[in-house]
Amino acid sequence: MTHPIIKDLTNRHAVKKYDPTRKVPQADLDILYEAMRLSASSINSQPWKFIVLESDEAKTRLSNTFVNMHHYNLKHVFDSSQIILFAYNPKYTREDYAKVVDKGITDKRTTLENREAAFGVYLFADLNTSETGDTSAWTKAQTYLALGNTLHVLARLNIDSTPMEGIDIDLVNKEFSAELAGYQCDTALAIGYSHPEEDFNAKLPKSRLAMEDVFLRI
Ligand SMILES: Cc1cc2nc3c(=O)[nH]c(=O)nc-3n(C[C@H](O)[C@H](O)[C@H](O)COP(=O)(O)O)c2cc1C
Repeated sequence: MTHPIIKDLTNRHAVKKYDPTRKVPQADLDILYEAMRLSASSINSQPWKFIVLESDEAKTRLSNTFVNMHHYNLKHVFDSSQIILFAYNPKYTREDYAKVVDKGITDKRTTLENREAAFGVYLFADLNTSETGDTSAWTKAQTYLALGNTLHVLARLNIDSTPMEGIDIDLVNKEFSAELAGYQCDTALAIGYSHPEEDFNAKLPKSRLAMEDVFLRI
């Protein structure tokens, strides 16, 4: 018998057409958002912001960015239930990490006396910071971990989704600059339910490289 995790991950697929009549129930959204918040990141940096577009007004603003490219993803804007913008902090600093350390003290993971010592691991951020203070490669990698966690949780909740690098990054960041507040969005995620007839990808067999092509056991 196939394990339920493998079953769910085999069923999940990048939706190509959503059922516009179905929206994700609030109870599932609550689980999803909490699971996203619990995502792991290097030194617990959490250099991300998740901006959920669900109002007609927010979705209209996103739809207006599909003028030059990636028109194939436009239909998801209104047909899906929510679009989540995954954004990362391109200039992560010690001050940003101080927020993490102080939350660790509030959560009783760190003691006040150990506050300074808790900054020791900030070395990992330093090693990934350019001379101009650019941390993009590192913080973007953390944000993709959150995306991967999100895709898995969605599969387990039987909610369908489409990760989308197919967005006009310049226009999206311009349109949502107030909400992004200096963070950078390079990826969006549509969530909702696959159209029962028109989502061609739902009917295609799953295809991945063979085990021996991606694993080396030594
Ligand atoms: C980071 C990322 C960006 C993607 N961007 C798009 C996109 O813009 N539009 C789209 O239809 N699919 C997009 N995909 C879906 C991939 O093409 C898809 O996950 C891959 O072909 C494997 O197929 P499956 O997810 O259906 O198993 C993206 C996937 C990832 C992980």
